Amino acid sequence: MSLIIDQLKETVGFIRDKCPTVPEVGIVLGSGLGNFLKDITVEAAIPYEDIPYFPVSTVKGHEGALVFGSIHDKKIMAMAGRFHFYEGYTATEVIYPIRVMKLLGIKHLLLSNAAGGVNPDFKVGDLMMINDHISLAAVNPLLGPNDDLLGPRFPDMSEPYCPKLRARANAICASLNIPLKEGVYFGVTGPTFETRAEYRMINRLGADAVGMSTVQETIAAVHLGLPVFAVSVITDLGITDRPAIITHEEVLEAAGKAEPLLTALFKQLIIEL
Ligand code: HPA
Repeated sequence: MSLIIDQLKETVGFIRDKCPTVPEVGIVLGSGLGNFLKDITVEAAIPYEDIPYFPVSTVKGHEGALVFGSIHDKKIMAMAGRFHFYEGYTATEVIYPIRVMKLLGIKHLLLSNAAGGVNPDFKVGDLMMINDHISLAAVNPLLGPNDDLLGPRFPDMSEPYCPKLRARANAICASLNIPLKEGVYFGVTGPTFETRAEYRMINRLGADAVGMSTVQETIAAVHLGLPVFAVSVITDLGITDRPAIITHEEVLEAAGKAEPLLTALFKQLIIEL
């Protein structure tokens, strides 16, 4: 058995000792989007630093705990704060928690992130359901030896974002009156925001939004055979006529404002799963 499997088993054993409930849905909360946790009945919260082999979150706006609980009768687990490649973790470390969630028993993975809009029809505060991604500028987390116990050597990526979950989300947003955009997410390493030429290029390559997370987690989930649903909160616009200086504070503020709609969508989707 490979080292990664041994480590995963130890991590999963540690977590099960603290919280034996099997979660059905795994959720990753992006920058400034941690308030979702206020809506769940918390059973246990385990700080990342206590969990064997877990990386530790270093970014402002990210909390750093694995939270277990329920929404209505649905058992969920959430990452309050995710790991990013730009923090200095390897791509394999970034996706470690996704593998842990799968081994703990989740059947669906919900991801959220803050992203820069490059589609000229987008505005700050929009929710964009991700229907595909371009990850050629992000390091693939499956580089290196493959362990067939986790998934295949060459995973198919023709439909990384589950069409059934997307259809369900469209129906929920229509009934709750939540405006939902849809588009392609372009993954970059960060930590710099993009230059104006880069935002233009990303748009011309066929993407609608750009961000520093999500694609590696999605690749890991597809490898594991986990259906993924992902939403970007558009927190800034790369394509404007005026030079816009983007700050992390602005990103957090915009994410916070859009959060209630994202939370409503996630909650209803979880209830209907
Ligand atoms: N670019 C990359 N990542 C981001 C952005 C952006 O404009 N906004 C929020 N995360």
